[in-house]
Amino acid sequence: MEYPFSESYKIKMVEPLYRSNLQERAQWIKQADYNLFNLKSNQVYIDLLTDSGTGSMSHHQWAAMMQGDESYAGASSYFQLKKAVKEIFGFDYFLPTHQGRAAENVLFSTLVKTGNIIPGNSHFDTTKGHIEFRGAHAIDCTIDEAFDTHADFPFKGNVDIQKLENVFISESADNIPFVILTLTNNTAGGQPVSMQNMREVSILCKKYSIALLYDSARFAENAYFIKLREVEYKNKTIREIVTEMYSYTDMMTMSSKKDGIVNIGGLIGLRSEEIFKKASTFNIMFEGFISYGGMAGRDMSALAVGLNEVLDFNYLETRIKQVEYLGNKLIEAGIPIQKPIGGHAIFVNATEFLVNVPREQFVAQTLAIELYLEAGVRGVEIGTLLADRDPQTRQNRYPRLELLRLAIPRRVYTNNHMDVVAHALIKIFERRNEISSGFEIMEEAPILRHFTVKLKKN
Ligand code: F0G
Repeated sequence: MEYPFSESYKIKMVEPLYRSNLQERAQWIKQADYNLFNLKSNQVYIDLLTDSGTGSMSHHQWAAMMQGDESYAGASSYFQLKKAVKEIFGFDYFLPTHQGRAAENVLFSTLVKTGNIIPGNSHFDTTKGHIEFRGAHAIDCTIDEAFDTHADFPFKGNVDIQKLENVFISESADNIPFVILTLTNNTAGGQPVSMQNMREVSILCKKYSIALLYDSARFAENAYFIKLREVEYKNKTIREIVTEMYSYTDMMTMSSKKDGIVNIGGLIGLRSEEIFKKASTFNIMFEGFISYGGMAGRDMSALAVGLNEVLDFNYLETRIKQVEYLGNKLIEAGIPIQKPIGGHAIFVNATEFLVNVPREQFVAQTLAIELYLEAGVRGVEIGTLLADRDPQTRQNRYPRLELLRLAIPRRVYTNNHMDVVAHALIKIFERRNEISSGFEIMEEAPILRHFTVKLKKN
């Protein structure tokens, strides 16, 4: 008989949770204008809003925090992080930033001009926001399999090489400052990009003299999937896989709040000294001096440790098996989710789940609210609210998939919590046909509206 699988760590500190009742939750969500971002954290029992900055640090990371060097310039914590970036990703030039979107802000201020085209694999919302804010356009060249939640394709994060080349042919290379590969592809369901695809994108970019940028928020989870699903990498270590992945790119931005396993932080990695010099000016203006960029010394030290820790196969296996545990329970119950199960989250196909709610009434948001009411579980809509309005026509953009994302924080919840989440969703699934109306917008911001939108019940 095989031994049961168990976690590769034990728990040293705990935080109590409050289990609310339905009446309390109904009142709180109404007061929050049916926007889950407006809830107070103590109104949430199991928080699957994001895996970003919500993980538990290890005792090695906490020990590193205590040794943080808070010098304004030239802190040893900075050099510790610079060393980790060089050793893991191979970049000679690096800038710390306070989080991922700050890295985007600094780098895109340096490289993106009005009218530019930036193709990639489903740009994350802040990435797209920073592109469109500069009057440039993001073009999604993800493979079509990613949009069929039933297709069991192992690398749904991949770029369609033909779609990408078509963009290169129809635009002059001068108008494309870089291509973005998001590892893993968050929007499509935490789906990985294969090594082969990275290689092919890199070759194509070189052919057209266009730079390649990796959005690296979940780079280690991506490497784990390469080890498991691309045969020639079966016997390679995660570190070796990461080294090869980054040999194909010119630049990286990273939200360290995911695979850095820290609560705040970001970074930019570069090979070009020229871009580094230009970006340094923006870093100083927006973030802070180039040797801290909005991070405390202690945060840089914890990140340097986290970047090495995340490469441990046992850590990654524990992490991704927990996501699979929840996903398999939902699949067994017949709940439509993105398959194969992704790295950091479960993505429920809301339009297949709530077939009676009209698309204009925000189906995934409706499901997110049902789940909160049912069990105090907070997920997030990855659908029409997140997709914003078209910048020109101001009409709602209906994305190809309307998803409810349940993002699992790293090293935080147990599988008993996952059982509660599964149970709650199954209960809603059993009464899904009774749910036939959603929500309408009362107030919204012109960009990134999902964070602050106010909704009312239909
Ligand atoms: N890129 C990706 C792929 C992301 O998932 C995120 C953040 C960012 C960039 C921006 O990083 O938050 O540090 O500024 N994703 C979070 C999420 C917010 O919930 O998926 P940030």
